[in-house]
Amino acid sequence: MIEVRHLKLVDMVAKVGSLSKAADELCLTQSALSHQLKELESNLGVQIFHRINNKLHFTPAGKEFRDAGREILEQFDHLENRISQINQQQLKTYVHGYSDEESIRLNNQARTISDLLHWDTIWEDGSLILEAGCGVGAQTKIISSKNATCNFVSIDLSEKSLKQAQETITSLGIENVVFQQENIFDLPFDDESFDHVFVCFVLEHIAEPHLALQELKRVLKKQGTITIIEGDHGSTFFYPDSNAAKKAIQAQVDLQKQNEGNANIGRQLFPLLSDSEFIDIHVNPRQVYVDASKPEMVEGFIKNTFTAMIQGIKEEALLKKIISKSEIEDGIRDLYKTAQAGTFCYTFFKATARIP
Ligand SMILES: C[S@@+](CC[C@H](N)C(=O)[O-])C[C@H]1O[C@@H](n2cnc3c(N)ncnc32)[C@H](O)[C@@H]1O
Repeated sequence: MIEVRHLKLVDMVAKVGSLSKAADELCLTQSALSHQLKELESNLGVQIFHRINNKLHFTPAGKEFRDAGREILEQFDHLENRISQINQQQLKTYVHGYSDEESIRLNNQARTISDLLHWDTIWEDGSLILEAGCGVGAQTKIISSKNATCNFVSIDLSEKSLKQAQETITSLGIENVVFQQENIFDLPFDDESFDHVFVCFVLEHIAEPHLALQELKRVLKKQGTITIIEGDHGSTFFYPDSNAAKKAIQAQVDLQKQNEGNANIGRQLFPLLSDSEFIDIHVNPRQVYVDASKPEMVEGFIKNTFTAMIQGIKEEALLKKIISKSEIEDGIRDLYKTAQAGTFCYTFFKATARIP
């Protein structure tokens, strides 16, 4: 019966004194505003204003509406500010940050393990897919090309990353993706909007992954599926072995934990999905194994994906005194050693599930 626009209308008339000025302030025509007012008065069954000599005077019910309405609008403002603060906070605490180096790293990561992760990322023709946390579009370009008959809505919190993602997709001539700046916890889509959802390397960064899953579930159509890909730093082993390298990796795990994320989330995908009441859950470990017989993987994965990630958190880990400068530098040096005739193993976890 009462809508926010009604509260705003009455509040604005109280502030500026007339319907015509209120219409200007609210960027509406006077007749549209007049129509809203009549609608409100008829819904409530009382008059908000007496019209005397072409002037509006609040009735007793109108005064009550104005005062209570103002309090509600203040609460709305407060809520909007809080959500915006939370968004800003999330951007600040995102462990990998939004530097150019990180953007290059995300693209290297996606390219080098594209076959391993995406040989089976195929949806039926004509599907509408939500990609949550698309970042700079490193996965977007792969999955949208592989599924050329599908349409993608790719969202992320970061305006900067979305801009880069848009540039990449446009430069590749890909036309089945639209980007939107949104929060995974508060999606602007109706219930049951999407056939499928895709999430890659995002849940590891958020404090409440089960809440994100609830929201993703809400926007999935019945029988819709979710595909989640996450890493698990506890799955890392390498030759030559090195305590310094292990300490450096642990620093990343600890830093991510301080930022309320979980760098070892891969092993947790099954319970997360079953607790969120998804069904038909299949979790598939995808191991990357690299040795000198695969020089492109030595470059692309050991150096430019994994070690670059540890290098990327160095400054923040030092600032937060999680590890000493010599320890992290020794660790990074030893990770590079695995790229010189050593070996390196890491396991990603790809989960698929659906809703009933
Ligand atoms: C490691 S990046 C992964 C990006 C991309 N999926 C990929 O694999 O290259 C994680 C992304 O999740 C986004 N993100 C984190 N929290 C989010 C939230 N609450 N809503 C939407 N995106 C979020 C970050 O902004 C970041 O771009």
